[in-house]
Amino acid sequence: DETTARRKDAHLDLCATGDVEPAQNSTLLEHVHLIHCAMPEMAADEVDLSTPFMGKALRAPLLVTGMTGGTERAGVVNRDLALLAERHGLAFGVGSQRAMAEDTSRTASYAVRDVAPTVALVGNIGLYQAVGLGVDGVRRLADAIGADGMALHLNAGQELTQPEGDRDFRGGYQVVEALARAFGDRLLVKETGCGIGPDVARRLVELGVRNVDVSGLGGTSWVRVEQLRAHGSQAQVGAEFSGWGIPTAAAIASVRKAVGPQARLVASGGVRGGLECAKVLALGADLAGMALPLFRAQQQGGLAGAEDALKVILTALRQALVLTGSRNVAELRQRPRVVSGALKDWLAAL
Ligand code: FNR
Repeated sequence: DETTARRKDAHLDLCATGDVEPAQNSTLLEHVHLIHCAMPEMAADEVDLSTPFMGKALRAPLLVTGMTGGTERAGVVNRDLALLAERHGLAFGVGSQRAMAEDTSRTASYAVRDVAPTVALVGNIGLYQAVGLGVDGVRRLADAIGADGMALHLNAGQELTQPEGDRDFRGGYQVVEALARAFGDRLLVKETGCGIGPDVARRLVELGVRNVDVSGLGGTSWVRVEQLRAHGSQAQVGAEFSGWGIPTAAAIASVRKAVGPQARLVASGGVRGGLECAKVLALGADLAGMALPLFRAQQQGGLAGAEDALKVILTALRQALVLTGSRNVAELRQRPRVVSGALKDWLAAL
């Protein structure tokens, strides 16, 4: 209905200019130190960042995580960022397709195949919307935009802070299991900034999920976004929880340890530069994921502005591999690294 689309536009306004990344929150990636190699003994152009994802071959291990759709403005964001992903060999996700499930005339704002014919394209729906849509309904959403796979997002923290949000979180694993059976390795389960920990990840993988985006604490806080929209007691509770979550560095390292090599892991949530991409890859991610920085670059500078931002990220990522003497991510993971401070405490507990 109308309110879904209007809420989405309010979200976009807040994310474009609002204080949606509370300064006191941290990914804890500042506690990961990759170690300099003074004699790399390799050429920069030997770095090979290619990786498989959702049946496609990416040229760099980066996913533009799902953000938007449903309005004209959202359609421009999707097309600009999908075009960039196509051009640079990244993966791209659209935002929640709830608005198009409610009104199929909104499909065009999610449709990017004409500008991104070969990109690894990921659809998106919330876990509790998927309950109502069923496996067939979710499959129709993916097919309608020619997606290679589907992301199922978890956002209990956001829902509880949203006055009109869900309050009943029962039956989730049952839905995940049905979708994993239907989509196989084309299903991705993701959080939205509060993180997926090792226990939940292990259970998801046991049910057949083969792609997990931990989307941890330290970047965009959806509790904060809803806090900024809420009033009275709801806003006060939101303020108290806008630092809630598992920091991204702790989530990715502990989830990799918990699930072993049998799942493809994405690390998003506050990953902001190429060096941070290298850090999450070293900790066990197969792909780094980013939402807010690319959205903001697009809002401020259009396609060219977003491409400039992306080039800085990709150049810095490659530089991190050269300066650790790594030709690829497998070699990067074998290099020693220092883990300090609070991250050590998190990893001792998880
Ligand atoms: C999001 N995110 C998101 N996630 C999702 O699964 N469905 C969605 O519709 C949206 N919408 C959305 C809009 C905007 C403007 C932003 C910035 C983000 C969450 C996103 O995919 C990601 O998980 C978090 O934002 C954490 O990453 P960053 O922003 O810290 O890089």
